[in-house]
Amino acid sequence: MCGIIGVTGGRAVTDVLLQGLERLEYRGYDSAGVVVQTGTELWRARAARGTSSLAELRRIVDGAPRPSAAGIGHTRWATHGHPTEANAHPHLDCSGRVAVVHNGIIENYRELAAKLAAGGHVFSSDTDTEVFAHLLEDELTGGASLAEAVRATLRDIRGAFAVAVVWAGEPGTLVAARRVSPLIVGVSDGEGSEDGPEAYVASDIPAILGRTRTLFAIDDDQVVELRPGVMRVRTLAGKAIEVPQLSVDYDLEAAEKGGFADFMSKEMHEQPRAVGDTLLGRLQGDGTLLLDELRIGPDELRQVERVLVVACGSSYHAGLVAKHAVEHWARLGCEVDIASEFRYRDPVLDERTLVIGVSQSGETIDTLQALREARQWGAKVLVVANVVDSSMAREADGVLYTHAGPEIGVAATKTHLAQIAALEVLALYLAQLRGGLSPADARLLLADLAGLPDLVQQALDRDADVARVAERFADVRDFFFLGRHVGLPVALEGALKLKEIAYVRAEGYPAGELKHGPIALIEPGTVVIAVATRTPVWEKMMANVAEVRSRGATVVLLANDGHDETAEQADEVLWVPETHPLFAPVVDVVPLQQFAYHVGRGRGLDVDRPRNLAKTVTVE
Ligand code: AGP
Repeated sequence: MCGIIGVTGGRAVTDVLLQGLERLEYRGYDSAGVVVQTGTELWRARAARGTSSLAELRRIVDGAPRPSAAGIGHTRWATHGHPTEANAHPHLDCSGRVAVVHNGIIENYRELAAKLAAGGHVFSSDTDTEVFAHLLEDELTGGASLAEAVRATLRDIRGAFAVAVVWAGEPGTLVAARRVSPLIVGVSDGEGSEDGPEAYVASDIPAILGRTRTLFAIDDDQVVELRPGVMRVRTLAGKAIEVPQLSVDYDLEAAEKGGFADFMSKEMHEQPRAVGDTLLGRLQGDGTLLLDELRIGPDELRQVERVLVVACGSSYHAGLVAKHAVEHWARLGCEVDIASEFRYRDPVLDERTLVIGVSQSGETIDTLQALREARQWGAKVLVVANVVDSSMAREADGVLYTHAGPEIGVAATKTHLAQIAALEVLALYLAQLRGGLSPADARLLLADLAGLPDLVQQALDRDADVARVAERFADVRDFFFLGRHVGLPVALEGALKLKEIAYVRAEGYPAGELKHGPIALIEPGTVVIAVATRTPVWEKMMANVAEVRSRGATVVLLANDGHDETAEQADEVLWVPETHPLFAPVVDVVPLQQFAYHVGRGRGLDVDRPRNLAKTVTVE
């Protein structure tokens, strides 16, 4: 997830870009850059200094030529290409007269880049974005206007994008378009401002809300052409259309949270996109999986005889789901270790062991050290991470990135779902390499995977039901979360969320294990949240629910739509849409996130920054 911004008109182009990028920094901070149009030339500045990229860019831009007719800016969350200055946006064409900023993933950029290179284009980065600039160059050389060139180029692009473009050949013209990735357009007639009329595009409202409240949201495959104070929108076919104006009734601070009360709820609502972006480009129509950035080749992976996952916290719970997927589909033995435990036992590893590190930050010291030791023992190390070029990603033999975008809330939400999705894809990929998955079965499973973002959205849409249940149990200070099979990691994650967000004691426990001691704790009024969605052991799970109910427990059941008989066994039911049992945790976790969120908010707690916690634990 990156942030883009563009502006035309006024006398403050550079300031508008930098202020906008500051408001977009939550979308990524690996690098930042701007291009401004001065006369008939483009001037570019870029910085790749991690969290201080923007400060460094501001220092460089102080020397920028002024005034400028238009400009574009970008703050990057790397998905393709390392977070280096060479990969920082804006990207230019061969002539240096076309500049592009982009948020999204171009699925077919390799084939486009090959065709462009064969046509003589020279690339200066290894990003997917740069192909836009060279495609535009070809169209402009052919006599097209900038808007015509953008419309023509987008017909060749597959994937998700929000792009903004300037061209030295059309001073003061800013063109932008989107497909899946968000894009906001703004116009100011300059009334009451000494800067005169302006027009803007940005990934998100906060970047331009300080300049104008006349905002518009354009739809997929609509191309907007902006001049100072003037906006024209056309379809890819060039037909002029009108777009509705947005009504924005919140302030700048709320806008950074996208109108949500806090980052945690904003990021929970980004989960369909996080899962979708993580799957994007990896599920092929013929049922095969494309994991070409893995860096560990298929032949090496075919040599793997066992898998061991190491992680912490929510990432460990994602690893527990992966265990079921790897064993079921790839028929490989799979252990899952808490990283801080793994390091101090004497694991038996060798070059035929694949150790998978799961970490959204890629910096958790327990996991990082565990992976370092695993490599010393000769194991092959693969990392599932959300931060490109994080320490773990750099040191591993291979990496599979999640594309959840930066996660500001301390509690893992969208990164957790994205991790599970990525691990499911990895398990299926291993199965395919080992010949354990027929193309027909793969196509069915990939169709189920592709349907997950919509099911996550359906679960999110039931927030009011969850809020009501959270209200009912707002004063309870002790919960059991029970689950079996893939329902157990869901129960563990639900318990962790309630502990870390609402500071309420919650124990995640294997339901089948309760009778071996902990059932002594069950008494009238004990609240049990039971994950009873359709796993292969659903009947067993319902028997465990009956055991606790017979001892007076109050039961909140997580159950699949349509199984109304379940409701008779519960005091409350949280309904979730059904999917393949091994994919179900991606959906089933959502109401438990929402439950913890509402209990925490109900207690007046800061759900974004819970006490005693840090987003990344870099101390042992
Ligand atoms: C989860 O909500 C917590 N923030 C915490 O358990 C987290 O999952 C754990 O610290 C691992 O972090 P990582 O994924 O960055 O390695």
